[in-house]
Amino acid sequence: MAKGKTAVYFCQSCGYESAKWMGQCPGCREWNTFVEELVDKKSSGKSTTKMSGEQRRPQTLASIEVKDEQRTASGMEELDRVLGGGIVSGSMVLVGGDPGIGKSTLLLQVCKNLADQGVSVLYISGEESLQQIKLRAQRIGTFTDHMKLFCETDLDEIRQIISIEKPKVVVVDSIQTMYHSQVSSAPGSVSQVRESTAAFMQIAKGDGVTVFIVGHVTKEGVVAGPRVLEHMVDTVLYFEGDRYASYRILRGVKNRFGSTNEIGVFEMRGDGLREVENPSEYMLSGKPEQASGSVVACSMEGSRPILIEIQALVCHSNFGIPRRTAAGTDFNRVNLLMAVLEKRLNLKMSECDAYVNIAGGIRMNEPAIDLGIVLALVSSFKNRVIDEKTICFGEVGLSGEVRAVSMPAQRVAEAAKLGFTTCILPKVCLEGLQKPKGMQLIGVSNVREALDALG
Ligand code: TYD
Ligand code: MG
Repeated sequence: MAKGKTAVYFCQSCGYESAKWMGQCPGCREWNTFVEELVDKKSSGKSTTKMSGEQRRPQTLASIEVKDEQRTASGMEELDRVLGGGIVSGSMVLVGGDPGIGKSTLLLQVCKNLADQGVSVLYISGEESLQQIKLRAQRIGTFTDHMKLFCETDLDEIRQIISIEKPKVVVVDSIQTMYHSQVSSAPGSVSQVRESTAAFMQIAKGDGVTVFIVGHVTKEGVVAGPRVLEHMVDTVLYFEGDRYASYRILRGVKNRFGSTNEIGVFEMRGDGLREVENPSEYMLSGKPEQASGSVVACSMEGSRPILIEIQALVCHSNFGIPRRTAAGTDFNRVNLLMAVLEKRLNLKMSECDAYVNIAGGIRMNEPAIDLGIVLALVSSFKNRVIDEKTICFGEVGLSGEVRAVSMPAQRVAEAAKLGFTTCILPKVCLEGLQKPKGMQLIGVSNVREALDALG
C-alpha cells in the first residue's frame, strides 16, 4: 500500500464508508456493493470547501451583509424557472438523468446561449471526442468564439486550464469520468466522484465560476454511485421522460437558490431541445374523443397548473386475484380509491381488473388528481363517456369525501384558457373563486355528487 494511504470500503450504491468489508450495506441494504478504495486521508480532509478571507468569529444575523446573488439568464425560460430565475454565478448545478435523455444536448444549448451573450464558457468532456461534440453542435446551431471545448479527464490538467482560460461557466460532462490523481481508485468510484466534485466545488466557490456537472443515473434512478454528490452541490436537477416519447421534463430536486417544485418541459427535435411553452396543450394532444374511461384532470407542478388526461380500463377479472396496474401515478393510491368506490358507491370493483394510466408518460403524484382517477375508473366501469369539455380536480378521502386542494383559481384559469367549459371541483374551493366566462363550476363534497354532476 502506498504511504499515507488507507484502505476504506465504500458502498458503491450510497457511499456508506466502512473500515471493513461487509456483505450488506447498513446504509441502503444493498448486497455486495462494498469495494475497497485507497484514500489519502490527509488530502481528503483538505479538499472540503473553505472560503478564503472569511471571518472566523461567530456573527449576528444583523451584521451579515447580503449581496444579491447575480443571476444570468440561460436563454431558456424553462431552465431558468427550474433554477429559480436564472443561473446563479458561483453555483454548482448537478444535472442527472438516464443515458441518452439529452443532458449533453441541454448543456450544449445552454453553452450556446451563454456564448451568444458574450459569457465565456468551457465545455469539458470526458466522454466524447471533439469531433463527436462538433457533430452534435452542428445540429444545434452556430457557436461564437466565447465557447471553448476541452476533452480531458485528469483533474490537475483541468484545473490548470481553468486558471489559464478563466471561463465564467464550466460544464463537466460527466463527473463519473473525471480522475483525481491523489485517489487511487478507478474513475466513477465513490471516492473518485467525491473528490472530483470537491475539487470543482473549490473552483466554483473560490473563483466564482458556475459549474454544471452531468451525473449518470443508475437503474434505480439515483445519480450513480454517490448520493454524497447530491449533498455537496447547490442545485440538483433531474432530466426525465420516456426515451421513446419526444418530450423531456427537467425537475428540480434540490435548490439552494429557489423552489424545488418547478418543472421545465422540453421537446427533443432534430435540431436539439425545444422549450414547450404550453405543456397542457402538449399533454392533451391525441386525447381520444367519445371514449369511456378518459377524463382530464389538473395537477399543479410548482406554480404552474398542468392538465393531463387520466385513462382507466376496468374489465371483468378471470382470476381470483384481480390484476391492477398504475402507470404514471401511485399504485397504492389507485387501490385505495377503488376500495373507496367499492365501499361508498357499492361498485363491485373487487371483481375487476383495472389499469390506470396518465397519458403521455408523465408522472403525477399530487392528491388533486384523485378525483380524476375516480371518475375515469367509474366511466370505464359503467362504460359511460365523460363530456370532453369537462375537467376535474380534488383530493378524495377514505369516506368518499372530496377535499380541498391548493390554488383552485390557477387550475380553473388554465382549464378556461384551453377551452374547457365545465369544472368539477371540491365545494370548499368555490369560496371566493372568480368564475371565468363560459365556464360552469360544479362544487362537490363527495364522490357520489361528483358522479351525479357528470349527468
Ligand atoms: P445526449 O444529449 O447525448 O444524451 P445524454 O448526454 O443524456 O446521454 O442526447 C441524446 C439523444 O438525443 C440521442 O439519442 C440523439 C437525440 N438527439 C436528437 O434527437 N436531436 C438532436 O438535435 C440531438 C443533438 C440529439
Ligand atoms: Mg452525454
